[in-house]
Amino acid sequence: MDKNTAVLTLKNLNKTYDNTTAVDSVSLDVVKGELLCLLGPSGCGKTTTLRMVAGFVKPTSGSVLIQGSDVTNQAPYRRDTGMVFQSYALFPHMTVAQNIAFGLQNIGFAAKAQTERVHEMLQLVELEHLSKRFPAELSGGQQQRVALARALAMNPAVLLLDEPFSNLDAQLRVRLREDLRALLKRIRITTLFVTHDQEEALMFADRVVVMRSGRVEQVGSPAEIYETPATRFVAEFIGWCSLFEGVVDGQGVFTTGKSIRLPLDHKPGPATVIVRPEYVKPAEALGSGPVFEARVTSNTYYGALCRLRLDVSGQEVLMEAHYPYGHGPSIGDRIEIRIDPKGARRLPAH
Ligand SMILES: Nc1ncnc2c1ncn2[C@@H]1O[C@H](COP(=O)(O)OP(=O)(O)OP(=O)(O)O)[C@@H](O)[C@H]1O
Ligand SMILES: [Mg+2]
Repeated sequence: MDKNTAVLTLKNLNKTYDNTTAVDSVSLDVVKGELLCLLGPSGCGKTTTLRMVAGFVKPTSGSVLIQGSDVTNQAPYRRDTGMVFQSYALFPHMTVAQNIAFGLQNIGFAAKAQTERVHEMLQLVELEHLSKRFPAELSGGQQQRVALARALAMNPAVLLLDEPFSNLDAQLRVRLREDLRALLKRIRITTLFVTHDQEEALMFADRVVVMRSGRVEQVGSPAEIYETPATRFVAEFIGWCSLFEGVVDGQGVFTTGKSIRLPLDHKPGPATVIVRPEYVKPAEALGSGPVFEARVTSNTYYGALCRLRLDVSGQEVLMEAHYPYGHGPSIGDRIEIRIDPKGARRLPAH
């Protein structure tokens, strides 16, 4: 198969419940080995989209294609998808090995082939030593790996993951998502996963689909989504940013009136500009450019950095900076800042 051929295609997918439109005209292609993430706030239609791919929810209109064949009206077990549910949904009365073997019996694996496949999966997720345990005797991270092994045992064309890390503590979540990404890349499985956590989407996905109220707002690489958001919604949903409303003049200067002036070599006219907080620095940390006087309205310590909200003549500006031991400025202090023009991005006009 050509490496750009879509393994999974959604065509104009819609789902309405009585008077709610859960998913609205979603079209996507996911290519072989790609990790595609659906990201968006609660209720935007992520799980509904995933469940339509798995076959647990019937679309109101539109279609789902897997490896080129239309599966819209096929039962879930005939779709060549494997799903890991948010709650893992392991069978509590079965051991780890029995959980992994479960689907294999149904598709006619002989006993010996089953044992081999289960062993291979246990090795893959590094759980050989726990094969005889029951789910209640496992940690959350181990249960997740069993659920993953059960889904992968069937060698599905498409793996579906719904909020795969949400039941895990913060440290384990970070480690497991790095491990899982490496594993999925190694076996080159095409994966569609859902999260409402922007950091998780950025680090885990090859491409991110930002959804809003059932619709696709932007599709792009993590860097594109973060650095060049297509809309104000995406800019604000993916991390912290300052938003400036102003005008680009004929001299290539963007100005919000009295407070902010930045070089911006763009077409003259009204402009909305976003600046991520890492492009705002204490004046002495950035060699050149206009200096702005700012009043600190909040300063929150996050360890490696502090997040500050600043007021520049009535305009809110957000800054991240490293202050050893958190000894940054206090609320009410006046500080001098510079804004790196490289970090100023104009949002496309709509
Ligand atoms: N069975 C249902 N009946 C009626 N409305 C539903 C049903 N399932 C989902 N919805 C509605 O469809 C919309 C999308 O729900 P969905 O579960 O897809 O959201 P989500 O993006 O996964 O949110 P979350 O991040 O909270 O899991 C919501 O408004 C929800 O209330
Ligand atoms: Mg959901």
